[in-house]
Amino acid sequence: MNNAASLTPEQVQAYHRDGFLALDALIPLDEVEILREAYDRIFARRAGRDEGDQFDLAGADADGETEKLPQILGPSRFAPELKRVSLQQAALAVARQLLGPEADLLGEHAILKPAGYGVETPWHQDESYWDESLEFNALSLWLPLQEATLENGCMQFIPGSHKLGILPHRPIGNDPRVHGLEVVEPVDPTKAVACPIPAGGATLHCSRTLHYAGPNRSSQPRRAYIMIFQTPPKKLDRPRDFYWLRQRRTAREERAAAAQAREVAASKERTAP
Ligand code: NI
Repeated sequence: MNNAASLTPEQVQAYHRDGFLALDALIPLDEVEILREAYDRIFARRAGRDEGDQFDLAGADADGETEKLPQILGPSRFAPELKRVSLQQAALAVARQLLGPEADLLGEHAILKPAGYGVETPWHQDESYWDESLEFNALSLWLPLQEATLENGCMQFIPGSHKLGILPHRPIGNDPRVHGLEVVEPVDPTKAVACPIPAGGATLHCSRTLHYAGPNRSSQPRRAYIMIFQTPPKKLDRPRDFYWLRQRRTAREERAAAAQAREVAASKERTAP
């Protein structure tokens, strides 16, 4: 296991105080290269598109349109390399130190910022996408597959914002066709802490921490692989109201529904007498 997979007490304390943590070295550089190749391969073929698992996070996502912020859900299903590397062990070890020994991987996704034009990821809290009736103890591990800089869109956080609860969100640009969410109240950018990190490093943030990543102004794609860890969530006595989740009407949902309908039709055919 890598040394970085064992956090110091100061790092654990900083995570709980600030709601985020930056690590300079989580996995070796040769592993970053393996991951980068797999990553580029699945984005080139837009793996998962027909099932609604590949879509534009920041645009209306119509077929044939240039994607602003291409995303793939569950990329390890399409690129098994993601499961084979030491990253899995290292990430789990770090997550368990921060969340407790019961923490496990909940899901993973990949967000690509194309070279030269990839748009910003507006301020948001990840939990605003999740189940309003559950109480979460969760974090995201954000692993860039090249150096992450201010120029190419490294992560930025508002320290202490994980203690605010979930703020009102809306679809990006208030466009219900967009999957991505943004916090409604403007965030004071002077309070933000930017976390540039070298390749092989990672940032971690609580599911309630406000975060942002700038547009990619560099000449190279900005690749990020994100793993979400949680301990088993509990039912809240009083569910929250994430009304913004019911405002969206995205092309991705339509594709996912169509894929499900095809699956149902196929299984009916298989079981037909
Ligand atoms: Ni996020």
